[in-house]
Amino acid sequence: MKIIIINGPNLNLLGTREPETYGNKSFEDYFADLQFKFREVELSYFQSNIEGELIDQLQQANKDFDGIILNAAAYTHTSVGIGDAIKAIETPVVEVHISNTFSRESFRHTSYVSPNAKGVIIGFGLQSYDLAIHSFIGE
Ligand code: DQA
Repeated sequence: MKIIIINGPNLNLLGTREPETYGNKSFEDYFADLQFKFREVELSYFQSNIEGELIDQLQQANKDFDGIILNAAAYTHTSVGIGDAIKAIETPVVEVHISNTFSRESFRHTSYVSPNAKGVIIGFGLQSYDLAIHSFIGE
């Protein structure tokens, strides 16, 4: 099973960015934990702060992966283009968010990702990614 985690803008700053909301761990450190825990899964990771690069990666992942875990970060709430890309590809996308976006500002209550996602996992901290992997491998 090949799964790619795609992270959007500012998630390269995890560990130092608003730690009260997003925690103290960098995504690189957490990704190493995931690779160790899910040794039977071929896990990849891509991060970009650029909307078009995220769309390119979604299109590419369609050919190369069995599942996509997407945290589009702020673009979740604004990007028709990312929403359309998810609709255009066949590989299932699980949407994740670290924070509970519904307990935050109202502009975070809208998602252009959710309508075409296989499912949505929100608010469990970095564990949201772990739960998304479980949703693909069925354990
Ligand atoms: C986020 C929530 C978004 O509203 C925010 O813009 C982010 C991170 C999360 O994982 O909690 O950058 O996607």
